Amino acid sequence: MLEKIEELLREVQQFQSQNKEEIEKFRIAFIGKKGSVTELFEKFKEVPNDQKKEFGQKINALKQAVTHKIEELKKEISDEKIEKKIDLTRPGFPQELGSRHPVNIVKNRIIEIFKSIGFVVADGPEVEDDWHNFTALNLPEYHPARDMQDTFFIEKDPDVLLRTHTSSVQIRYMENNKPPMRILSPGRVFRNEAISSRSHCIFHQIEGLYIDKEVSFADLKQTIQYFTTQLFGKSQIRMRPSYFPFTEPSAEVDVYWGLNSETDYRITKGTGWLEIMGCGMVDPAVLKNVNIDPEEYSGFAFGMGIERIVMLLYQMSDIRMLFENDIRMLEQFKQL
Ligand code: DAH
Repeated sequence: MLEKIEELLREVQQFQSQNKEEIEKFRIAFIGKKGSVTELFEKFKEVPNDQKKEFGQKINALKQAVTHKIEELKKEISDEKIEKKIDLTRPGFPQELGSRHPVNIVKNRIIEIFKSIGFVVADGPEVEDDWHNFTALNLPEYHPARDMQDTFFIEKDPDVLLRTHTSSVQIRYMENNKPPMRILSPGRVFRNEAISSRSHCIFHQIEGLYIDKEVSFADLKQTIQYFTTQLFGKSQIRMRPSYFPFTEPSAEVDVYWGLNSETDYRITKGTGWLEIMGCGMVDPAVLKNVNIDPEEYSGFAFGMGIERIVMLLYQMSDIRMLFENDIRMLEQFKQL
């Protein structure tokens, strides 16, 4: 039997092949279920006890020789393949870079500007309750201003809804923090509106809130002016009286865009002015709702639609372009 082992070992050592199938056949013939090495292991039982040690060592050595041979041959094949198929001197494949979505580019830019004057980003849920989206913002049930924002309801009694504005984050933040506070909350909002070139049922807003002692309307105006100068390079703004339930007084901010080109005439309807956001002094009733004493603290808030700003900055005429994600549009924002 020892002779048989020697013979098999010689056979293993002499075996050469560059062919995958042949190597596999070799493997099966030796260490497959019915292979000759496997058979030897089975015969091991019959070996007299005093020879078991020697026999065992030889048979193990044979098995190792087989696996070693197989590995060696397989490696040769793959090395050779690599050499043949890959020309290492050729230039590599170009790395394709993706692009940020314009809404994100502008959102990040706005965050940067407000961060530079001490604002921090605060987050809130997209699925809201009635309190945070409406009631605490001084919009009690049956308040007519609720109709300004057509709401997607998820559940009724108690109401669960998709937030109609990021103002809900103001409430959440004020409930959980103490003044002074300066926050910026970007996020998705939802309105049950018909989709057209100017409106979409899902869009993005950025909300700002500043609460401290002795915050005045002048602070609000300065802050917004700083913002428009940084973002658009335009510092001339005007504030028109407006109405929001959560601010008093409230204003709409226009920035003077100028009338230097045909596009300026078109987008400003010949006035030179463009509306960019709503704002105001936080209504004392809102502060009371979140247990902040309006006698001690005051503050301002503002809110703007990001898509609107994107459209202004990149001269897009249809908001739907920002939701269709046409690769030809997105690719134009590479490296921005
Ligand atoms: N939440 C308002 C909207 O969705 C935007 C807004 C206006 C936010 C005035 C404010 C604000 O914080 O003071 O139209």
